[in-house]
Amino acid sequence: MERLDKLLSSRGAGSRKEVQALIRSGAVSVNGETVRKPEIKIDIFKDEVRLGGQAVDLSEHVYIMMNKPAGVISATEDRNERTVLDLLPENMRRPKLFPAGRLDKDTVGLLIITDDGDFAHRMLSPGKHVEKQYRATLDREADAEDIAAFERGIILSDGTKCLPSKLEIPDPSRAQNVLVRLCEGKYHQVKRMFASRGKKVVQLERISIGNLYLDGNLNRGEAKFLTKLDIDAIFIGNMH
Ligand code: URA
Repeated sequence: MERLDKLLSSRGAGSRKEVQALIRSGAVSVNGETVRKPEIKIDIFKDEVRLGGQAVDLSEHVYIMMNKPAGVISATEDRNERTVLDLLPENMRRPKLFPAGRLDKDTVGLLIITDDGDFAHRMLSPGKHVEKQYRATLDREADAEDIAAFERGIILSDGTKCLPSKLEIPDPSRAQNVLVRLCEGKYHQVKRMFASRGKKVVQLERISIGNLYLDGNLNRGEAKFLTKLDIDAIFIGNMH
């Protein structure tokens, strides 16, 4: 059982003070009854809490979409560098958050931050075949041979064999701009795959994970809570 104000704050409804004001103003109901006491205890598995008439997702874990900017690292803490967690606004912060899957310091785009280790494992494990899609800008034009090599499975310079992946050139007149879809997440994978083709990635952005796409309304560095439906979209169409 958890205090109503603490619970709502931890689920993104505002700071503890803001939530207490909301509760006192009559904006919150529990099991259909308006409540005005911030300290009442809630059972997240049984009680239905509504804020302004909208059901609040009380599930234990949180899932946050960030549009990662360049210049921050995908780690929980670092002595010298700013991390993606440092960018989160106060109402999103809580213990045990971590980035589910890393993006390089200079890579931008879709990053999921969560406190759900099982979910992260499910999303990241190559065996689960969740596709991650990247938009890359190369120093030179990609061609049909690159596409074929990606399809066969690129062999990295250290001999590591990558799973087959898809390379697309959406506009042949601008063949330096490509889309890459892969189900793995080896260290610097996209950059190393292109390096093995003699090409350099000059800009890299992740745009989707499964059927979850980067929200175009999020500026770089901004984050939003994801719903259960968003999370389900990651695994839709995925039979594994
Ligand atoms: N591949 C890379 O090379 N870098 C990333 O950040 C993600 C995928």
